[in-house]
Amino acid sequence: MAKSMRIGIIGSGGIANAHVNQYKKLADVEIVGIADVVPGKAKQFIEAQGLGGAQYFEDHRKLLDMDLDGVSICTPNVSHHLTTVDALRAGKNVLLEKPMSVTLAEAVDMVETQRESGKMLTIGFQPRYDPNMKLVQDIVQSGKLGKVYYVETGGGRRRGMPGGTFIRKDLAGAGAMADIGCYSLDMALSAMGYPKPLTVSAYTSNYFGTNPLYHPQADQFEVEDFGVALVRFEGDLVLQFKISWAMHMDSLGSTMFLGSEGGLKVNPHGTGNWSGVWDGKVGSMTLFHDFMGQQTSTPVPVIEHQKDLFFEKVRDFVEAVREGRPAPIPGDQILIQQAIIDGVLRSAESKREVAIELP
Ligand SMILES: NC(=O)c1ccc[n+]([C@@H]2O[C@H](COP(=O)([O-])OP(=O)(O)OC[C@H]3O[C@@H](n4cnc5c(N)ncnc54)[C@H](O)[C@@H]3O)[C@@H](O)[C@H]2O)c1
Repeated sequence: MAKSMRIGIIGSGGIANAHVNQYKKLADVEIVGIADVVPGKAKQFIEAQGLGGAQYFEDHRKLLDMDLDGVSICTPNVSHHLTTVDALRAGKNVLLEKPMSVTLAEAVDMVETQRESGKMLTIGFQPRYDPNMKLVQDIVQSGKLGKVYYVETGGGRRRGMPGGTFIRKDLAGAGAMADIGCYSLDMALSAMGYPKPLTVSAYTSNYFGTNPLYHPQADQFEVEDFGVALVRFEGDLVLQFKISWAMHMDSLGSTMFLGSEGGLKVNPHGTGNWSGVWDGKVGSMTLFHDFMGQQTSTPVPVIEHQKDLFFEKVRDFVEAVREGRPAPIPGDQILIQQAIIDGVLRSAESKREVAIELP
């Protein structure tokens, strides 16, 4: 019997395997086609994944000619715009890997195309499915912190620089900011209800990535390995955003929400070279407040769970398509953090505070 949900995959590199592994767990989903620009790569992927019957293409538009209910877009960042716009115009629902795009202009075009198409565009931030993210959001939005005026997020890896497509400007567009910064930005901003950003002042550098002592592909390293930004929002709120792929320091601190009545500290999970960034898991949480006139610190228990967050994001996409629900993590919301990342890069280049123009 034919399966009810027909899925295609654009880009058959590392993360495409994670998508396919999750789709395979869903009984009514069939992967019917794979596209990859590298000749032979999609065919190899089909063989390695045991997707007998799936068709392979070098041109994603050929894949989009197929009868599909949805596509996972798993290409490097710079191809997100073109492949997403083509998929939406071809009438397909889209689960797009993070970050949404490289520039704000691309993100705006993607959202406009999504609206015109009436199809779904959801961005794959799997940490949203961690119950602790919901807990952080509930605490921040409960009013217990009073007026939240300052948020700090991001964090630092001591030595955790990727290579390959992630370090090339023509493929990734940006470095640590886009790769891991987008997670902590999404978590902090979704807790705050995605307020409207006004201005950003930022600095970026790449002293580690370009040094052969620290990176085996130093001669090809073109993006930032460190960035810091101060973002102003509507409603008297500022956010400090720090991120590093590598540094001579043990930590860039925790995520924190400072309010007039209380503060919430969220520690990153783990202490290894690739840890230290708020990119999904929560280490521990503490609420700081006054109680009976006393300065009090209350540990907030971290919710232990067995959820596979990547599975949750793929399943939610499939179910949202089947049920005709709105996008779980909509493009028009993530556009706001793209505007911030775009502003960070512009500000770092011009060495000035820049305005963030939202459409
Ligand atoms: N959510 C997560 O946990 C997570 C983890 C890793 C990577 N990612 C994201 O996934 C994306 C891909 O990362 P990756 O590690 O798989 O990269 P990768 O370089 O391993 O794979 C990308 C593949 O896309 C192909 N490709 C490029 N342009 C294409 C096009 N126009 N049409 C079809 N195929 C094309 C490449 O040939 C390559 O095979 C990135 O945007 C990255 O940020 C997300």
